[in-house]
Amino acid sequence: MSELKKLESSCLLEIANCGDLKKLDALRNVIFGKNGEFTKIVAELRDLNDEQKRKRGSEINLVKNNILDRLSAKFNELETRELNRKLASEFIDVSMPPRPDCSGKIHPLTKVEEEVVRILSSHGFEFADGPEIESEYFNFTALNVSDYHPARTMHDTFYVHKLADDEGRRLLRTHTSPVQIHAMLANKPPLRFFSLGKVYRSDYDATHTPMFHQIEGIMIDKSVGFSHLKWILLDFLKKFFEVKELQMRFRPSFFPFTEPSAEVDINYEIKNGKMIFGSGDKWLEICGCGTIHPNVLKSGNVDTKQYQGVAFGFGLERLTSLKYGVLDLRGYFESNERWINSFGFSAN
Ligand code: PHE
Repeated sequence: MSELKKLESSCLLEIANCGDLKKLDALRNVIFGKNGEFTKIVAELRDLNDEQKRKRGSEINLVKNNILDRLSAKFNELETRELNRKLASEFIDVSMPPRPDCSGKIHPLTKVEEEVVRILSSHGFEFADGPEIESEYFNFTALNVSDYHPARTMHDTFYVHKLADDEGRRLLRTHTSPVQIHAMLANKPPLRFFSLGKVYRSDYDATHTPMFHQIEGIMIDKSVGFSHLKWILLDFLKKFFEVKELQMRFRPSFFPFTEPSAEVDINYEIKNGKMIFGSGDKWLEICGCGTIHPNVLKSGNVDTKQYQGVAFGFGLERLTSLKYGVLDLRGYFESNERWINSFGFSAN
């Protein structure tokens, strides 16, 4: 067999046996590259005369074309094989469930706010709002808080600026009770309003944050009194804590804006480290309330000869902590993702 024929058959054999695109490319270089075996044969043409060159040249071309055809057929074959392999291994299963979605959580205070609004609305309470920057008059004076009451000192109250007009200085409201006055001034009795919002006091530890939320309820009517308060609060607390039975006791207390005033306790016990409300003989303070002081009704232009009223106030964080076991109040406002993921609620 001539040298050319030998080269041809050995090339064709190697091409036929090649199973890899990279190797095939390398093989092409070995055959046709600068120092390739085929290039050497072509170079030998130099030493031949014209007649021989023509003859030898056409023989070489035949072999060369044959090898090139096989090479390109093999390339196609290997490329198709590679494509099929990729299609098989990179297969996307469209029936797979999607990735878990990282949706946010409802803040526990928002959840409790919704619960409170739902229960109070079911008792016919309408929402009333007031500004967070209040005057001394609305925050204190109109609520019968005397000038020398300790709550007025810088220690508890954040004053916004010292300039005083006839309403006194401006401050961040220290409770939601000023909304009582706004509601009375804006509406004619009988009234049944609640308010819910931010209040501010200069205090910071595990059980106090400088900003927190209060819920305030007022009822003003011709014959409204402690019995109404007792019924509303008992029903509210039973619904809120989702219990059928609940003991409640009124302890005499003092607020300048209610007379008489009381603090309300509810019974509970601890079972497996959890507070269970409505059973057991331990008592827990839950809210402040009382009959609205006549001076407060007068500040709200309510005719005290015809009308009387009751009011109650809750801390939203306290209600939330008791129901959902949040121990450190500061977590509510730290925007910590881990905290919200463990105490937050799913939106569905
Ligand atoms: N405003 C009172 C407080 O901040 C709570 C309260 C509201 C008490 C209404 C009686 C009536 O503590």
